[in-house]
Amino acid sequence: MTGLSSPVAQALTSVFPWKEVANVVDIGSAQGCIPVRLALAHPHLKACGFDLPAVGPIFSRFVAAHDLSERVHFTAGDFFHDELPRADVLTMGFVLHDWDLPTKRMLISKALAALPPGGSLIVYEMLIDDERRMHLPGLLMSLNMLIETRGGFDFTAGDCIGWMRKAGFSRARAVGLTGPYGAVIGVK
Ligand SMILES: C[S@@+](CC[C@H](N)C(=O)[O-])C[C@H]1O[C@@H](n2cnc3c(N)ncnc32)[C@H](O)[C@@H]1O
Repeated sequence: MTGLSSPVAQALTSVFPWKEVANVVDIGSAQGCIPVRLALAHPHLKACGFDLPAVGPIFSRFVAAHDLSERVHFTAGDFFHDELPRADVLTMGFVLHDWDLPTKRMLISKALAALPPGGSLIVYEMLIDDERRMHLPGLLMSLNMLIETRGGFDFTAGDCIGWMRKAGFSRARAVGLTGPYGAVIGVK
């Protein structure tokens, strides 16, 4: 995942006003590409990865290799059974597309519950264009998720903005990242 997510992580360092927040938790962090890249770019930021317990040692090794063990931590958990860790900002990338619509909505609602008023959820994926006609990588990725998972699918920025608003986010907007990747930023 680090190979796939590195350009996205680099783009994320500049599309959000990180100076205004103190901490960020990456939900479904895998090795920790996103928290590590954000912490390297923003020395004031405390970052955390949340993933299944088995991921912990892999995450910790990657963080130590970047000399960030004091500012980047791991929280073990299962987002089906546990609440999400609280933070000013939550990021969630290539996670929602793994799951069916009720699970997508559940994760967005859990993220809302973990944020303070004014806090943000940043969802990054290969966002399909709203007409579902142009974004070939996103459409193919969605087909891939259909084959690889029970109910996963990729989605448009408009879909994600709609799910966030319905969950209770006060506003949400889409931003381009790099290549075929984009993000939806929802504010509680
Ligand atoms: C496709 S990877 C995304 C990795 C990372 N966000 C990135 O952009 O590189 C999905 C991640 O979700 C994690 N995951 C799957 N089920 C989970 C669960 N029930 N609770 C917490 N994390 C889970 C996996 O372990 C994996 O690291």
